[in-house]
Amino acid sequence: MNKPDLCIAKDRKKVDINYINLDLDIKPVFKGKKYFLRTYGCQMNVHDSEEIKYYLESLGYSSVENLENADIVVLNTCAIRENAKEKIFGYLGRCKHLKKIKPNLIICLCGCLMQQPSEVEEIINNHQYIDIVIGTHNLFELPKRIVDTYHQKQQIEVFSNSDKVFENVKYYRNSKISAWINIIYGCDKFCTYCIVPFTRGRERSRKLEEILKEVQDLKDQGYLEITLLGQNVNAYGNDLNLGCDFATLLEEVAKIGIPRIRFVTSHPWNFTDKMIDVIAKYDNIMPYIHLPIQSGSDEILKRMNRKYTIAEYKNLFNTIKEKIPNVSITTDIIVGFPNETDEDFQKTIDIVNYCKFDGAFTFIFSPRVGTAAALMEDKISHDEKELRLHKLNQIVNKYSLENNQKYLNKLVDVLIIGPSDKDNEKMCGYTDTMKLVNVIGAKDLIGKIIKVKITDAKSFSLDGKVI
Ligand code: 5AD
Ligand code: SF4
Repeated sequence: MNKPDLCIAKDRKKVDINYINLDLDIKPVFKGKKYFLRTYGCQMNVHDSEEIKYYLESLGYSSVENLENADIVVLNTCAIRENAKEKIFGYLGRCKHLKKIKPNLIICLCGCLMQQPSEVEEIINNHQYIDIVIGTHNLFELPKRIVDTYHQKQQIEVFSNSDKVFENVKYYRNSKISAWINIIYGCDKFCTYCIVPFTRGRERSRKLEEILKEVQDLKDQGYLEITLLGQNVNAYGNDLNLGCDFATLLEEVAKIGIPRIRFVTSHPWNFTDKMIDVIAKYDNIMPYIHLPIQSGSDEILKRMNRKYTIAEYKNLFNTIKEKIPNVSITTDIIVGFPNETDEDFQKTIDIVNYCKFDGAFTFIFSPRVGTAAALMEDKISHDEKELRLHKLNQIVNKYSLENNQKYLNKLVDVLIIGPSDKDNEKMCGYTDTMKLVNVIGAKDLIGKIIKVKITDAKSFSLDGKVI
């Protein structure tokens, strides 16, 4: 048994990173059996689930829509806020109940929440029906652990040291049109509210040539869009010391010629002019940037350890808007950081009024065990935080709508990805600026970039007509 350890997870000593070429021989020993996979959290987890799916499919399992029909259930968990954790433990109640009826059901938990010592203790003490717990650093062990489940009791295998980068990882991708590519793992920023540096470990970049090989391979398979993934893509290459930074990588990727290239997430702190120039230079790098601001107050930003001031953020924001025509910018905002005053909150409203973001993900601060902010004094009531969130959302949504309304009667290129969630008669896709567009049309539009005239604008989507 290996349990997670926050002290090891926090360690940023410069030890060499081991690049490991994954070459697993997985036998399809569970042919005919069914898996049910549920993913919580961010794009990183969604992409990890594609790796999990590869392992499950290689073992011979096929997917089912209903938990009740599964032989194995895998929950890929998230630790970013308390409500994610509550949802996961709520769902575990259903799994536990099912296991009473189907004692051979295998229950497996993986992902960020499993890197938290307190959660793993809770599982060991109170959730003995869970068969497998593995962490973010040893996902590749999943096939072996599943096979071993038949011989062993509860298996807890979570590693906290993050000195490895796996290359040649295989995925069972969700889409044949748009693909995720990890470029850098982990985060060294230690924003005081954030659990990610503990759950995902130190920053470690994949090798440039391996990333380019993956991009070329996806292009050859006919993919039209890729998204380069990292907790902070700007930090790409810093740990490699090879003189290759994110701007260089982005340019090399652009030259391969995939029609649409995206990247998430960018920290405002080391977003370089060189990056802006590369984005502006290449038509196939999409004019869309997710640039989390978190707060409008310098005092709060300092206590969040964000390493920029509002003046610096504004500067960057304006340069991006100036240099990248038609760019859309979205953000993340936290309200109710410990002892956030009315004035601090007003400054957040002010910066939203200034930037008029295309969209914003807004959250109430959620203390995470092990982070610095969880220990900070906080006199602000939860009711007050809810009020602030509500007020902020009204303003954020007003600007989303106003920005969307600028698209009315315009012609845009939309990459159609599939049927619309809300209306079966419609297909949906995204503009280069990441606006969701619904159009009336048949399935043969899927996987095409088409011209659409925008006929209606709402806060979260556009309607259009195929031209
Ligand atoms: N509480 C609330 N929001 C958080 N985020 C990260 N950690 C927390 C937390 N403890 C938000 C940040 C980040 C986004 C992914 O989640 O806004 O950018
Ligand atoms: Fe968390 Fe900050 Fe790293 Fe983003 S940059 S993952 S908010 S610590």
